[in-house]
Amino acid sequence: MLSLVKDRALAPSGRVKIEWARDNMPVLARISKRFSATRVFKGHRVGMCLHLEAKTAVLAEDFLKAGADVAITGSNPLSTQDDVAAALSETGVHVYAWRGVSEQEHRSNVAKVLSLKPDILIDDGGELSITAHLKGSRWLDEIIGACEETTTGVTRLKAMEKAGRLKFPVIAVNDAYTKFLFDSRYGTGQSGLEGIMRATNLLLAGRTVVVAGFGWVGRGVAQRAKGMGSRVIVTEVDPVRALEALMEGFDIMPMADAAAVGDLFITATGNTNIITASHMTVMKDRAILCNVGHYDVEVSVRDLERISKGKTRVRPEVTEYKLKSGRRLYLLSDGRLVNLAAADGHPAEVMDMSFAGQALSAEYLLKNGRKLASKVIRVPQELDLQIARWRLEAFGKKIDTLTKVQRQYAQSWQL
Ligand code: NAD
Ligand code: ADE
Repeated sequence: MLSLVKDRALAPSGRVKIEWARDNMPVLARISKRFSATRVFKGHRVGMCLHLEAKTAVLAEDFLKAGADVAITGSNPLSTQDDVAAALSETGVHVYAWRGVSEQEHRSNVAKVLSLKPDILIDDGGELSITAHLKGSRWLDEIIGACEETTTGVTRLKAMEKAGRLKFPVIAVNDAYTKFLFDSRYGTGQSGLEGIMRATNLLLAGRTVVVAGFGWVGRGVAQRAKGMGSRVIVTEVDPVRALEALMEGFDIMPMADAAAVGDLFITATGNTNIITASHMTVMKDRAILCNVGHYDVEVSVRDLERISKGKTRVRPEVTEYKLKSGRRLYLLSDGRLVNLAAADGHPAEVMDMSFAGQALSAEYLLKNGRKLASKVIRVPQELDLQIARWRLEAFGKKIDTLTKVQRQYAQSWQL
């Protein structure tokens, strides 16, 4: 089937971006070299639903070079980069993605990817996996398994497993150490702030930043905002994580209290209705709201619309809402993940590890998938360690290895 992209003429600019990303993803390149030499995916079909920017295109091209038939769509209406999609569509990958897709177009694009009858799914948010289940058993027969990139996707697929509805194995790539410790924390920490800075061109130093959620993403965002000179307040529902945030030097309070003192609000919970009308009505004039969680449900845009008397797009990624009280609130990227909508997503070195995890997990599924139970499983530890070793090597760093005596000591129990 022909690709559907915004404008094929954009391909040259997308190609330059893809090659820049590839040059900064040496771990994935190493895996890809082996994949292309052995054509390990020959005869297989890989269906992908990921944020379609340059690093993602590198992964898709690597599956293609490994012999697979590949189809891809974007996993968020605002994260697809049209020039990258155009360049990717020239390679033989089937691309169904453009920035600004409607809900209906998105569903249709997901269905187009599934119509390739993929046997391996690479998902970010679980939409490809869940849609395959909802389409009925005929669609599930050929699927060996799926690899899931993000926390929200893993949470949903675990809920499906718990309900007895999951019909193929899923590897939770998100839960690999070489993913969440780096991608979710340092990746979103950097790219989240980059998105905010690009969108607003405002100073973070001296601002009071409220970070909702102190999971891996929230930790990264809070740490980086502190490093930029912001006074950071964290909101949480988990007492252990709240305590951890407090001992890291952040202030802790409920959102109801933080709402009145924050200058910039960043949601990172993966949950819904984190900032609603009751918070918005007490916010300072000119407070800024944005989200780095997977879905646009954390800041209630519906509430913002309801309590406003008008809105204006004041910069490409900034909408000014004029409240009935006369105060103004600024929403970035329509409440969608600001690091991908207003910037380019995580840095390449970080996605190098996350996508190495995707590539190796997909290969693991090819080899072992038919023997695995229909459960959400972890990335095998050996793969995780291998990715870390290669990434250290790429940084030009060496580490020690245990001596025989140390290994024996570590395994002994006698006093
Ligand atoms: P996590 O589960 O580790 O952390 C979420 C935290 O939010 C938890 O500590 C939880 O207690 C807290 N929380 C839940 N409800 C809350 C509420 N009402 N108020 C305050 N805190 C609340 O998840 P994570 O890995 O940090 O991921 C968070 C979200 O970010 C997910 O949607 C994930 O898919 C997404 N994500 C986005 C990117 C990106 O590039 N933007 C990257 C990685 C993950
Ligand atoms: N680039 C591609 N996929 C991404 C993701 N899940 N998070 C951040 N940047 C990305």
